[in-house]
Amino acid sequence: MDVKKSPLKISNLVKRYGSYTAVDNVSFEMKPGEIFGLLGPNGAGKTSIISCIVTLQKPDEGECTIFGQNPMDHPLDAKMHLGYVPQEIINHGYFTVEEILVFHSGFLKTWNNKEKIHYLLNRLGLWEHRNKKVKALSGGMKRRLLIAKALVHDPKLLLLDEPTAGVDIELRNSLWEFVMELKAEGMSVLLTTHYLEEAEQLCDRVGVIQQGKLRKVGPTKDLIEQLTQRQVSLIFRGDCANGIKSKYLVDVEDDTARFLIPQDLGIGELITEVDCEIKNLLDIRISEGSLEDAFVRILGEGRDQ
Ligand SMILES: Nc1ncnc2c1ncn2[C@@H]1O[C@H](COP(=O)(O)OP(=O)(O)O)[C@@H](O)[C@H]1O
Ligand SMILES: [Mg+2]
Repeated sequence: MDVKKSPLKISNLVKRYGSYTAVDNVSFEMKPGEIFGLLGPNGAGKTSIISCIVTLQKPDEGECTIFGQNPMDHPLDAKMHLGYVPQEIINHGYFTVEEILVFHSGFLKTWNNKEKIHYLLNRLGLWEHRNKKVKALSGGMKRRLLIAKALVHDPKLLLLDEPTAGVDIELRNSLWEFVMELKAEGMSVLLTTHYLEEAEQLCDRVGVIQQGKLRKVGPTKDLIEQLTQRQVSLIFRGDCANGIKSKYLVDVEDDTARFLIPQDLGIGELITEVDCEIKNLLDIRISEGSLEDAFVRILGEGRDQ
């Protein structure tokens, strides 16, 4: 594997279950050190893509390469370069937390990494639980253990499939903080999530999957800018709001007129356009478009196709 090459390249990937096409000709490439979010509704095909990357499923067409190599051809090398946190929690209940991490390191030919294991136990809040049998852990703790396990061998690419589904908000926040730390250390991260607000904050780029097709891919900021509008509320003195006319006007409620404007239209231009007397304007509130707005639009356009 050549760690200077793209951490992950998916080329014309097709995965069928019987006659059902779950992944339909998907291609995208990750950049080194980025956080890439794979977003899409339930059943869109996200886990199927990840399953092909980790060789749990065999692609029907196309291929995935990790740092320039197909993991089908170099399975152990691939496993040593990637950390994988599956959507479902799978663990051997009768081992202790620390044993799981030691054994898993051994599987991946990583010995004498006690320091790393202790660091991860501490960093993920598992230290007090290290001698407990895995079966006795809560769901959140089992999820933390899966993340520790995915990192014991110092992988260069981390795959997180819905790491925060069903996890309380505190753990969610601390996990995302940890992911940012990993990125700062140079890790490339592919994640799937339902939490679009978090994806907006975390992901350098996102791809939107719907019915197995990659509908859109691009830098998170660019997608928001291209696909959403700003919402502007102008608050007027007395009943001035009622007289407002503008092609951008959405509605008027009491003293407030609400507009949706393109990202490149300035607020000054809007105020000139609505032709209001400035002395009657009391306040301006702006709310920027979000990744969720862009996501809803992409899915809406996808359904019309
Ligand atoms: N092993 C399987 N056998 C048959 N159908 C499957 C299998 N795994 C997933 N599917 C189907 O493929 C589609 C995509 O599933 P999945 O990749 O899990 O989506 P996501 O992770 O985006 O929710 C769904 O309709 C799902 O029911
Ligand atoms: Mg899934």
